Amino acid sequence: MKEKILIVEDDINTLNGLAEILEEENLEICKAKNARMALGEFNKGAFDLVLMDYLLPDQNGLELSGVLLENQPDIKIIMMTAFGTVKNAVNAMKMGIYDYLTKPINLDELLIIIRRALEEKRLISENLDLKSKLTRTYRFENIIGVSGKMQEVFQKIAKVAATDATVLLRGESGTGKELIARAVHFQSKRQNHAMVEINCASIPENLLESELFGHEKGAFTGAYKMKKGKFEIADKGTLFLDEIGELPLSLQAKLLRVLQEKRFNRVGGVDNIEVDVRLIAATNADLEKRMAEKLFREDLYYRLNVIPILIPPLRERLEDIGPLTDHFLKKYVLKDQRQIQGISEEARKLLMGYDWPGNVRELENAIENAVVMCEGTHIAAQDLPAYLQGPRATGSPLFDRVLEDSNLGYKEKLEACEREIIRQALSETGNNKTQAARKMGFTLRTLRNKVKKYNL
Ligand SMILES: Nc1ncnc2c1ncn2[C@@H]1O[C@H](COP(=O)(O)OP(=O)(O)OP(=O)(O)O)[C@@H](O)[C@H]1O
Ligand SMILES: [Mg+2]
Repeated sequence: MKEKILIVEDDINTLNGLAEILEEENLEICKAKNARMALGEFNKGAFDLVLMDYLLPDQNGLELSGVLLENQPDIKIIMMTAFGTVKNAVNAMKMGIYDYLTKPINLDELLIIIRRALEEKRLISENLDLKSKLTRTYRFENIIGVSGKMQEVFQKIAKVAATDATVLLRGESGTGKELIARAVHFQSKRQNHAMVEINCASIPENLLESELFGHEKGAFTGAYKMKKGKFEIADKGTLFLDEIGELPLSLQAKLLRVLQEKRFNRVGGVDNIEVDVRLIAATNADLEKRMAEKLFREDLYYRLNVIPILIPPLRERLEDIGPLTDHFLKKYVLKDQRQIQGISEEARKLLMGYDWPGNVRELENAIENAVVMCEGTHIAAQDLPAYLQGPRATGSPLFDRVLEDSNLGYKEKLEACEREIIRQALSETGNNKTQAARKMGFTLRTLRNKVKKYNL
């Protein structure tokens, strides 16, 4: 069955031209010259996509889009705007419009975006369970994912958001745990209350208790006045415990008690404080291993692991690389006010052929960098980081590829190998930097610097 597209454009030449081109792409086309005609057509037939001019004679494109999205939340709308209305375009994206293009329209770009939109729509409608509300909002949250695995994650988010159940997000570094935690909160009935975050790895052990539970005036040296802890601040909202795997054992016991009794005391206090808090925890550590090593309490694990959501690494969902690339490209082109229109096929292939140990974060950094490096209208292969540039023989071990690559100097080869070794050490230790550093004979500080340098 042909996919159906409605084109809304008041300039007759443009309208007919676009229709002709898209018909050649084996799409079924319907034309409308203004918003009123567009609505008439829309009510008659089930469209997959609407290509719309922003400036219409009888209504602006955003208003019309609002009506269309209300009636069919999964409709893909692509807006064509005149140059200089980028701000409107950003509003459009927030509203649930799929994408926008600035005039004069670049046909290659248009066709790529249309294909991507239709593909995404097809994947989503195959996933029958998925609520239409979700399809509309997950773009709003800026979480991109067309792969089956991410669609499953989205489905889970939709289901758990409505409840108060504790969620445990698992996944390698950079897979999007924090982003998903936010999505759960902002789709829950707690969305109008606070989402409070605490990173259990970054706060020294002796301060963490007072950070979590607060302290009374005079509780310890330096406690000049009463301070509320994150649990209290998050009352009626959500508390996000990031890197829960790094929570020291002493505090694991205290946290467990709070979860069981649903109340606590501030440090140095005697009054019981009761709060209504939904917990989301996240970790990239191997909790099962940490339990076996007695570094993580089993009882706490079961308390937290009510609804586990595993976010797969990027290398297990290659379909997402393309849409994520486009998303980040758009983001940084807008941010840096660049005139870059797209990305070359060669560069795309390099992105697809890499295994992304740093996951989405690494991809985002690579694109941000490429936008800075790019001198033409399209991101080229050489704008991407050097370690992506090896021969494209994917599947052969990384070291072989690097060593045989005559384009790389010794320094680059050394760095590529070092990066891989550090990645392995971190992965083997469940991202425990202290352990990994010891294994490799680095100081913790050296390792930290290298992790930063290599985007791990
Ligand atoms: N599906 C996605 N769509 C769009 N952006 C994403 C997606 N997943 C991750 N990102 C982006 O990648 C970056 C890393 O994501 P995030 O901080 O949520 O990862 P994380 O799993 O919490 O990593 P870490 O374990 O290192 O804390 C962020 O800038 C985030 O916005
Ligand atoms: Mg995180």
